[in-house]
Amino acid sequence: MLKTHNCGELHPAQAGQTVTLAGWVHRRRDHGALIFLDLRDRSGIVQVTCDAQQAAEAHAVLNAARSEYVVQVQGVVRARPAGLTNPNLPTGEIEVAVQSARILNEAKTTPFYINEDSDVDEALRLKYRYLDLRRPAMQHNLILRHQVVRLIRRYLDDRGFLEIETPMLIKTTPEGARDYVVPSRVHPGEFYALPQSPQQLKQLLMVAGFERYFQIARCFRDEDLRADRQPEFTQLDLEMSFVDRGDIMALIEPLYTEIIETLGSKPIMQKPFPVLTYAEAMAKYGSDKPDLRFGMEFADLGDMAKGSSFGVFADAVAAGGQVKAIVAPGAASFSRKQLDDLAEQAKRLGAKGLVWIARKEDGTTRTSAKALAEGELAAIFARTQAAPGDLVLIVADANANAVARSLGELRLTLGRQLDLVRGDVHALCWVVEFPLLEWSAEEARWSAMHHPFTSAMDEDWPLLETDPGRVRAKAYDIVMDGWEVGGGSIRIHRREQQQAMFRALGIGLEEAEEKFGHLLEAFEYGAPPHGGIATGIDRTVAILAGFTSIREVIAFPKTASATDLMFRSPSEISAAQLRELHLLVDR
Ligand code: AMO
Repeated sequence: MLKTHNCGELHPAQAGQTVTLAGWVHRRRDHGALIFLDLRDRSGIVQVTCDAQQAAEAHAVLNAARSEYVVQVQGVVRARPAGLTNPNLPTGEIEVAVQSARILNEAKTTPFYINEDSDVDEALRLKYRYLDLRRPAMQHNLILRHQVVRLIRRYLDDRGFLEIETPMLIKTTPEGARDYVVPSRVHPGEFYALPQSPQQLKQLLMVAGFERYFQIARCFRDEDLRADRQPEFTQLDLEMSFVDRGDIMALIEPLYTEIIETLGSKPIMQKPFPVLTYAEAMAKYGSDKPDLRFGMEFADLGDMAKGSSFGVFADAVAAGGQVKAIVAPGAASFSRKQLDDLAEQAKRLGAKGLVWIARKEDGTTRTSAKALAEGELAAIFARTQAAPGDLVLIVADANANAVARSLGELRLTLGRQLDLVRGDVHALCWVVEFPLLEWSAEEARWSAMHHPFTSAMDEDWPLLETDPGRVRAKAYDIVMDGWEVGGGSIRIHRREQQQAMFRALGIGLEEAEEKFGHLLEAFEYGAPPHGGIATGIDRTVAILAGFTSIREVIAFPKTASATDLMFRSPSEISAAQLRELHLLVDR
């Protein structure tokens, strides 16, 4: 190797040793006869000094070195003189006195500083990702990611799981997004689809008798991108035979506990993780991925709204809807503008309006709902436990989803704004008993809330024909700090039930046979009861590292419009390639 030691690992006990180092010039200070370099490699940084008196040749070489040049130096480790140590650097007690030096490669001036944590435009970072990844903070993120995956592999190997790869060129896999497709050269007019997840393949591995499978699986989904979504991302995907919900939870909970406690920097707020039903989560937090790092639970005012002198409340309940409230502690003094902004936000999220009641410190009350009687205000304060100084926010709507969505988002906004979200812990929970189906108003049909292979709860199967919206699924999500980090379910393993599910989804016999015939048939050859889960590796690592965007923990991510700025892809292909693939482009 071109080096005998790593820069960041040198320590005082090595004083007197001759070492050879190779790395990048992180920083260079020129004091005439004395040159100081901060030399960086993956392990960290060490100070290198070169004295023209003692090593004239090396001094001449390093005199030409600039930031990000790649250099090799040989020298002696020595303790730094008293008063010149650097407590902020792990190697800050020593330096290397250079005897000889060689420039291995030069570097142009980089488009942004590698040695500073400055705010660089993300487009520039993505275009020069190989430079961005040189920054110590980014190196740390990818090292953490490696450690998480290594821990997962060891944990599952210890428990008898086999890591099995599954193909990338397959057929449509319904996870609720659009497919990325790949044209076939040898079969004109035919296409493969890239897997949205290995869902069916892992189920077929259970039919094949493997019992415990996992994979660090790449998934592809053409969907609207957000900070927590990429078109291709990575899951810990796993499946087990002969299990029920509790077995999967009892496997994943200790795994996440170990990941957080050994690789994270914050403790887990509550152990064991709280388990909420979907109905509870929606009723209390208006979200199926509640952030439990703060309270601010919804109060239900439905029963009080019935006879209300305020028409909006009475009407909402009369129409079978809801009236719910949250309390923003200490926010009674919010300005008109702040209140208007909250109301605007609620409307954008589907609420017809937002009622606010400020319970002032001086005993007076200000409210947007003048029609509310004194007694009603007092009752609302009692129900919501709003203290003097607090602000009560109420949404009333015939549509329960509009109440949940708007109030749920207001809760998150205010939680952040009022600094209620604890930043010193991770809060995990399970959400269970999701509805099996959700109504898609756009398509006027039921769609699977998780995916079509999820089993209904045993007692709810009969409802599938009569009242599909009430069927609960054997599905579970794991939530961390308000992010959905994983989801899974106990699967259907019988052909009739899978067909009944397809029927409920409006997938006819023929279509089911065409798309999923392989799975339906497999269920006829002794398919064992099975279930599993997939957790997002990108999301898990992003949360551990303290980021709100998963792009920070992916080596080469895409932009929000699914482009790769470094490769400049997607891009056109040649006419010859198009011909070979039997494709005509219609723009
Ligand atoms: P699901 O679709 O819930 O389940 O995905 C599981 C987890 O994968 C992560 N995830 C994503 N991460 C980044 N970008 C995306 N576009 C993206 N989409 C999903 C999330 C999510 O919780 N086959 C089922 C699992 C199963 O039933 O076993 C599945 O894929 O963290």
